[in-house]
Amino acid sequence: MRKPLPRWFAHRGGGSLAPENTLAGIRLAARLGFRAVEFDVMLSGDGTPVLIHDETLERTTNGVGRVCDTSDAVLFVLDAGHGERIPRFVEAAELCRELGLLANVEIKPAFGHEQATAEVVSRLTAELWRGATVPPLISSFSLEALEIARDLAPEIDRGVLFEAVPAQWLDYMRRLQAVSLHCDAQLLGDEVLAEAAVRNIPVLCYTVNRPEIAKALVGRGVSSMFTDRLDLFAPVTGADDGLHSGG
Ligand code: G3P
Ligand code: MG
Repeated sequence: MRKPLPRWFAHRGGGSLAPENTLAGIRLAARLGFRAVEFDVMLSGDGTPVLIHDETLERTTNGVGRVCDTSDAVLFVLDAGHGERIPRFVEAAELCRELGLLANVEIKPAFGHEQATAEVVSRLTAELWRGATVPPLISSFSLEALEIARDLAPEIDRGVLFEAVPAQWLDYMRRLQAVSLHCDAQLLGDEVLAEAAVRNIPVLCYTVNRPEIAKALVGRGVSSMFTDRLDLFAPVTGADDGLHSGG
């Protein structure tokens, strides 16, 4: 693996201080001192990779219906919050490179679109970050998507992403030639952490929004955390060991 991962990743771009999965969120994360951001990438009805979390538009935009059934002409005029547009993946990649942010690209395929989403996002990730000083990290809950990423963009690091970590997680990591383990902070057991520690596998936890929980996780050996609370965990010192509580 490359250099140690930053302690904090701004979850869904800008966390709760900006509309999620938007360029404004990514800019804010950088401005607050975050060195890494996580965002979700899905295909539009026209096959364009865009930043959005849900398969449907209602929660985060003023649109209706499924992302994978919506044309670009409709998608890109929607309001994703505070007048922000849904970003194209290409725009987010360019912004992360410009700001020197480590991007955790989460491939988030709509149901039934795993293969197409993984193919497009993997190829583009390799292309968009070619020669970058801060290379990205691809993750996905879809093991199929990660297999495709391994085959089409082998040079891009991969993280396996779970809710609860399954017993055979190491087999998955080997098969996918993954470098990191990402999982739900609330479902992470000490056995998994011990196994990861002896193998030097970084463990990244989502979603950590409380200082006391962050402190406990770091004490147990967790490497990095995804947070919505950019206000609480902004790595102000640049040392990025931040367990800042904002006060
Ligand atoms: O990649 C970590 C985290 O983002 C996974 O959960 O649902 O927020 O994409 P979700
Ligand atoms: Mg995500």
